[in-house]
Amino acid sequence: MAAAPVSPARATVLSRRSAVEPFIVMDVMEHAARIEAAGGHVIHLEVGQPAAPAPLVARQAAAAALAAGQVGYTAALGIPALRARIARHYGEVHGLAVDPERIVVTNGSSGGFVLAFLALFEPGDRVAIAAPGYPPYRHVLTALGCEPVLIETRAEDRHALTPAQLLAAHRQAPLKGVLVASPANPTGTMMDRPALAALHACARDLNLAFISDEIYHGLDYAFPAVSAAQIGEDVTVINSFSKYFCMTGWRVGWMVVPPGVSRTMERLQQNFSICVPTLSQIAADAAFEGRAEMDGVKAGYVENRRILTQGLPAAGLSRFLPADGAFYLYADVSDFTDDSAAFARRMLDEAHVAATPGVDFDPFHGRRFLRFSYAGSPAHMAQAVERIGAFLKRG
Ligand SMILES: Cc1ncc(COP(=O)(O)O)c(C=O)c1O
Repeated sequence: MAAAPVSPARATVLSRRSAVEPFIVMDVMEHAARIEAAGGHVIHLEVGQPAAPAPLVARQAAAAALAAGQVGYTAALGIPALRARIARHYGEVHGLAVDPERIVVTNGSSGGFVLAFLALFEPGDRVAIAAPGYPPYRHVLTALGCEPVLIETRAEDRHALTPAQLLAAHRQAPLKGVLVASPANPTGTMMDRPALAALHACARDLNLAFISDEIYHGLDYAFPAVSAAQIGEDVTVINSFSKYFCMTGWRVGWMVVPPGVSRTMERLQQNFSICVPTLSQIAADAAFEGRAEMDGVKAGYVENRRILTQGLPAAGLSRFLPADGAFYLYADVSDFTDDSAAFARRMLDEAHVAATPGVDFDPFHGRRFLRFSYAGSPAHMAQAVERIGAFLKRG
């Protein structure tokens, strides 16, 4: 029987809110891939992804579950054993008792943002975020019809939002929430307990939802990272297995939500994704037993950080933010350029070192900055420093 004719395509009308900006780092990666395809050897300092795999115990647990065919749906809020294990983690790391009922397992921290923004904000709500900051915060808020309010941070505040800035933004037009990250991307800076507590107190006075992105917890070098969960129960903590546990592609993260909020998250998750992939949840539960292995990976970042913080000044880049945590170094390149995107492109073409231009993270001053990720191997860091030095000398 002849197939019925398919009607010709007509122009698809796309929504205004879907017109979010691209993630520029992806364009850098594509250009690097073209150089590699032509035989070039690129050192990748652009992508914020651990080079190491997930802990062995996690991979083994997933393999065993796969072999047993144990891959059905799970409860929308997550496998109960995993929720309990995550709650226990707060006791182990922070000495904090957290009710497993408050834990929501999510599709990476990215899935957590969508659930949190939907649960906490109405279309049109204004949400304060720091600039520089992780681009999807503003893009996802925009796609959901909210208004990201970018607040320019200052070096003297370690590039964190301050209560005075929050208050000033709220006075311009009322805010509904604030989102912080410590350790932060792209700056690598951290908020200490007094800074986090002061901002939280201000947000509470203004009746704002307080969201804390703690995806880089576990990767702290300057001082131990403080969780917003240690400061108040009225916070939404977002975390992930992607970074410390090296599980980016597994797409599993979690939230700690205020008491009484889990049911709302459950209803949203049921409808948006049903649940987080089962094998990933099983692997995540086991990953907590692989912390010795992950601490070994972290020791590599410590070495990378040493190589960059000592090597880059000698190579000619001496102005960068304090590399407190995560695996990022945010360098001021304004002695060389006022167009970080063109500069990053030239460094990639000529020195085969890929870095991310600050414009991805900061519409105010991003043209003066480059972000270097040191999630790769120490041998590559030393080589990168050499290449950057030679590139800057050539001018
Ligand atoms: C600050 C920050 N938050 C969230 C994410 C999203 O991570 P995932 O969805 O893999 O948990 C990233 C990824 O790079 C990030 O840097």
